[in-house]
Amino acid sequence: MLLYIFLVLVWLVLLFGFVVFFGAPYLPTLGKQKLAALELLDLEPGQTLIELGSGDGRVLLAAAEKGLKAIGYELNPLLVLYSRLRTWRYRKYIKIIWGNFWWFVWPRADGIYVFLLDRYMKKLDKKIIQNYPEQKVKLVSFAFKIPDKKIQEEKDGVYLYNYLPSKKT
Ligand SMILES: C[S@@+](CC[C@H](N)C(=O)[O-])C[C@H]1O[C@@H](n2cnc3c(N)ncnc32)[C@H](O)[C@@H]1O
Repeated sequence: MLLYIFLVLVWLVLLFGFVVFFGAPYLPTLGKQKLAALELLDLEPGQTLIELGSGDGRVLLAAAEKGLKAIGYELNPLLVLYSRLRTWRYRKYIKIIWGNFWWFVWPRADGIYVFLLDRYMKKLDKKIIQNYPEQKVKLVSFAFKIPDKKIQEEKDGVYLYNYLPSKKT
C-alpha cells in the first residue's frame, strides 16, 4: 500500500514538475490579480482572450462570466481535465487545448493573459510580435515584466502591455 502511495506521489511530482522545462510550474493567480487582469484588459463581450498556461481554469472561467471567448493552453493533462470539468457549463465560450503553447500558432485574439517566469518573458514578447503582426493585442502579465517594453498600466502586480500592428513602409 505504501509503495502505491509513493508511486502516485512520484507520478504527481513528475507531472507537475516537468513543465518547468517549458514554462512556469503550477501556481494559481489570486482572486485580486485575476480581477485586476480582466479590468486592465478591458475587453468587450464577444472578444477573445488567450491564456498561456491556463492552470485550473479560474481565469478562463472569470473571462467567460464576462461574456468573453476564452482559449487556454495547458501542458499538464490533470489540470486540463480538471479545468475542462470546472468550466463545463461555459463550454460554448471556453476551449482548453492540451499542449505546449510555444508549439502552436495562436489564433486571433484581443487579449493574452500569462503568469509565467522571468526567463520566458523575452521569448513571449518575440512570439507575440511574430503571431500578431497585423492586429492590436493586449497582454497582461502577473508578476513578470517584458524586458525593455513600455508598461501601459499596472495594478496589483499585474502589468498591461499593448502590441500594435507593425508599420509597413
Ligand atoms: C504559474 S501557473 C499559472 C496558471 C494560471 N495561468 C493561473 O494564473 O491561475 C503556470 C501554468 O502554465 C502551465 N504551463 C507552463 N508551461 C507551459 C507550456 N509551455 N505550455 C502549456 N502550459 C504550460 C503550467 O502547467 C501551469 O499550470
